[in-house]
Amino acid sequence: MNEVTTIDRTQREYSDAVKKALARAPQLFINGEWVDSSGDETIDVEDPSSGAIISKFVEATDKDIDRAVAAAKAAFEDGRWRNLPPVAREKIMHRLADLIEANADEFAELEAIDVGKPKGMAAAVDVPGAAAHFRYMAGWAGKIGGETQAPYSMPGGMMFAYTVKEPVGVCAQIVPWNFPLLMACLKIAPVLASGCTTVLKPAEQTSLTALRLADLVAEAGVPAGVVNIVTGYGHTAGDRMVKHPDVDKVAFTGSTEIGKLINRNATDTLKHVTLELGGKSPVVVMPDVDVAETAPGVAGAIFFNSGQVCVAGSRLYAHKSVFDKVVEGMAETAPFWAPRPSLDPEAHMGPLVSKEQHDRVMGYIEAGKRDGASVLMGGDAPSDAGYYVNPTILTDVNPQMSVVREEIFGPVVVAQRFEDLNDVVREANDTQYGLAAGVWTKDASAAHQIASKLQAGTVWVNCHAMIDPALPFGGYKESGVGHEQGRLGLEAYLETKTVMMKL
Ligand code: NAI
Ligand code: MG
Repeated sequence: MNEVTTIDRTQREYSDAVKKALARAPQLFINGEWVDSSGDETIDVEDPSSGAIISKFVEATDKDIDRAVAAAKAAFEDGRWRNLPPVAREKIMHRLADLIEANADEFAELEAIDVGKPKGMAAAVDVPGAAAHFRYMAGWAGKIGGETQAPYSMPGGMMFAYTVKEPVGVCAQIVPWNFPLLMACLKIAPVLASGCTTVLKPAEQTSLTALRLADLVAEAGVPAGVVNIVTGYGHTAGDRMVKHPDVDKVAFTGSTEIGKLINRNATDTLKHVTLELGGKSPVVVMPDVDVAETAPGVAGAIFFNSGQVCVAGSRLYAHKSVFDKVVEGMAETAPFWAPRPSLDPEAHMGPLVSKEQHDRVMGYIEAGKRDGASVLMGGDAPSDAGYYVNPTILTDVNPQMSVVREEIFGPVVVAQRFEDLNDVVREANDTQYGLAAGVWTKDASAAHQIASKLQAGTVWVNCHAMIDPALPFGGYKESGVGHEQGRLGLEAYLETKTVMMKL
């Protein structure tokens, strides 16, 4: 960790485009327009690389949420979006993707100063991913259909029966702070493809890119009221959205704790619910691996986005014959991952998103040490200003420790040895979560066998956190309900209607 002391952690100057975005008056995007809140409370925007307050946005009131839901309801009911020819919806979605790409640099910088993620990472992952979700889902707009089906218990020719797929209706979509633009686009894309309408709320820590996206939604030609973007706190604005009687579907990404609460709150009105929740994803390293390739790969599995990733490979299980070499190889990546300000062009890892998250992660590291874990790398915070935590590897851990059981959501991996394959599969599955898992091996047979035994919605072999709009993403166990992305992700926004006509 020798370089770390020499890093200049002063945040770089913002571009003019970003300064302009930060100078905007706090407003909400409702019914295709920027409108003032009914109240005058605001929430501060903080740059986690410095801790500086750089802007503010609206803390939406109940009245604001009601107004946004009413706009989404009116837009759904009069068919201004769902009754457009699918080719028109598809074109508008591609236009929105084009606009995101045309503003890629500004989006990457806004994301960097809001979340703390390196601008280069946002430019390589978040922004192109956001556009890709619209492009992929745009293709579905014209490919939604039901089927004709002859009844089973009735004579042929007596009945003409068919199914049609219809948009579910008004959606309430709530996203977290780790990939704000990407998550917003991942949520809005199936809304647009299916013909639904939505009220979307970004996280209170990171609302800048969702607000900027609203400009482009209007510019792309999405009709007023189809996509409404409101800002505010979860327990107030988010709660109002979830309980609102005119909302038909709730889509949430965030913590398992809040996901359970939202599921309960959506029950009274029996809304459709999809939940993408937390994880504590295991990564199994088999004895046959090439350590020189695997060690940086499993380091990236946890340190990417400062470990603030629902699928982060936070529990490493390396075979005892390669364990020492793998963790040494991971430790050698420390200079690469050394946290830097998000606008430092050399940054691969930034600070954590907030002081709250910083203190939470440091609290877990302290708890791990108290419980007897050894710190092989990191374990400390390198700077007083900004919310930096050094990439951390903990060894000598056991399955009872909180660092092994709970989602830390920071750059902290717990590394354990295994000897027997059955034991490691059992340990890997010994968790409330089931979001994702990784296996590293050259043995294709072993890879498939282990993949079949891991209780996880996604299993990666010799890679990690590879997400693609065409491939369904969802959690087993307490990691989620339903799927996003792919055909399944579209279907979560569709109802099926059966029509039977006596001939
Ligand atoms: P959170 O789950 O409380 O927040 C996520 C989103 O839900 C935000 O937009 C928030 O405003 C909204 N929300 C919160 N309470 C709500 C409610 N009662 N009704 C409706 N919406 C509500 O996550 P938070 O507090 O930001 O982070 C706490 C921990 O959660 C993290 O340390 C991490 O472990 C985990 N987390 C996991 C994520 C994942 O993708 N798996 C994403 C974010 C957080
Ligand atoms: Mg919370």
